[in-house]
Amino acid sequence: NLIMRSTQTIGVLVPNLANSFFSMFIKGIQQASQNNKFIPIIFDANHNQELQNMYLEELIKRAANGLIIASATLDANDIDRILTRNGIPYLLFDQNDAQIGDRVWVDDYKGGQMAANYLLSAGHRDIALLVGDEITQNIQQRINGFRSVMAKYHLSLTDERVIQNKMTKLGGYQAVDDLIALKPSAIFAINDEMAIGVYRGLQERGYRIPEDVSIMGYDDIDLADFVMPKLTTIHQPAFEMGQVATELLIERIQNPRLAHQDKQLPLELIVRDSVKNV
Ligand code: RIB
Repeated sequence: NLIMRSTQTIGVLVPNLANSFFSMFIKGIQQASQNNKFIPIIFDANHNQELQNMYLEELIKRAANGLIIASATLDANDIDRILTRNGIPYLLFDQNDAQIGDRVWVDDYKGGQMAANYLLSAGHRDIALLVGDEITQNIQQRINGFRSVMAKYHLSLTDERVIQNKMTKLGGYQAVDDLIALKPSAIFAINDEMAIGVYRGLQERGYRIPEDVSIMGYDDIDLADFVMPKLTTIHQPAFEMGQVATELLIERIQNPRLAHQDKQLPLELIVRDSVKNV
């Protein structure tokens, strides 16, 4: 009989597989699943709420043994209601401030501070911030951390200096005119994808990085080391985050009465070539 009823599955919902942060995250999920003889079923919700809801329902119908949800648009309390009602253990990634369920996380507040400290110590004062249009809890922390350091230097990051667009390369690219209008000496992009989109927009308009504008990213995706100039960023251990998320979830599946599990992973400043001293 080829039907192996004993194979347990983990449903995974990510917002955008084209962002290699999430590909690495999924590689980690796959690795840990394999080690534990689970099979992951992966969906890219494509930043689309309807699609997300549809996949979520399908996963429930198919009786996934547990779920990992990295979603920007689903409300954490809704998820909790739906999944708890259906008795499905899950782990929320990126919007776990309510501390609903188990969590794997990095200290994004500190990450934002690391980015700001680096730009400020390089002498930048005219800073613009580029963020996505769906602000998850972790990204809000990142922004708050960044702002807190600016405030310490008596610099305020007024709302006009915070540009919003889609959290993709295209979003970054499309934000370039808004950014240029602010005449920043440095731009902090909330993720590397957006930073790389900004690269292209600036370069097409004849701006040199970092001579004319410095750029700092966040995530340290594989491309960060391959663009010109190499992107200075904050490293998130995406692979390990996927691994740990899966391990915690599997422990929860196997032992539903386990006490709350919480695992924090480290961030690291990666200095490359996209920020100059002014
Ligand atoms: O690039 C994707 C972003 O979404 C990352 O910074 C990660 O923290 C997630 O929130």
